[in-house]
Amino acid sequence: MDLVFKNVLVSRADSGDAAAIISVYYETSLATYPNAKYGITRQDIVERFEDDLSPNGILKMSMKLANPPKGELVLVAKIGDEVVACCWCIQAAVNKIAAFYVSPERQRQGIGTKLWTESLSYMDMGKQFFVEIAVYNIPARSFYERLGFVKTERHLPEFRFKSGRIFPRIEMKRGPIPA
Ligand SMILES: CC(C)(COP(=O)(O)OP(=O)(O)OC[C@H]1O[C@@H](n2cnc3c(N)ncnc32)[C@H](O)[C@@H]1OP(=O)(O)O)[C@@H](O)C(=O)NCCC(=O)NCCS
Repeated sequence: MDLVFKNVLVSRADSGDAAAIISVYYETSLATYPNAKYGITRQDIVERFEDDLSPNGILKMSMKLANPPKGELVLVAKIGDEVVACCWCIQAAVNKIAAFYVSPERQRQGIGTKLWTESLSYMDMGKQFFVEIAVYNIPARSFYERLGFVKTERHLPEFRFKSGRIFPRIEMKRGPIPA
């Protein structure tokens, strides 16, 4: 584990990382979000990523990474040339973690914690942090609780998959981090 940890390098993503970022996001989502209790299937996830995985989707992502919209920060964690994790943050009045994922086979090796810790130096730590997670995503909830996040009571706008299934989410937040 120590060896893996030392070899993880965090940096801003560039346009050449687009396909790898989408692929890690897709594989992680397939491993995380299908859920019998909430009726969310593998097909829901496949359909959700259809556009992103297309050549046009990858091109759009690489253009976005080459010219990030104001306030958008995309960081990658790599081992050698392999993208093993990604953090996408939208920075405005607050820091909103829009996506944070570690490749399934690389999870629980400290990589998420390392990516989070290093991400902070790119963010405004004087602002609050918000993230939305699936209600049944217990690993993510434990991960964020360990980082000082707590669940809020905010009712989030509904998101439905193409099948019509609702993706049930909760919001978590944490306060600014003292310098
Ligand atoms: C949640 C996620 C980002 C955590 O990254 P990670 O690299 O696996 O986490 P770490 O190894 O740094 O773990 C840090 C702590 O988080 C908690 N944690 C992480 N994975 C956990 C799991 N599967 N079950 C319970 N607790 C877990 C533990 O407290 C862990 O500390 P420990 O290993 O000393 O017990 C990763 O599992 C992931 O990408 N999940 C799928 C996508 C996702 O849910 N993203 C978050 C929503 S945006």
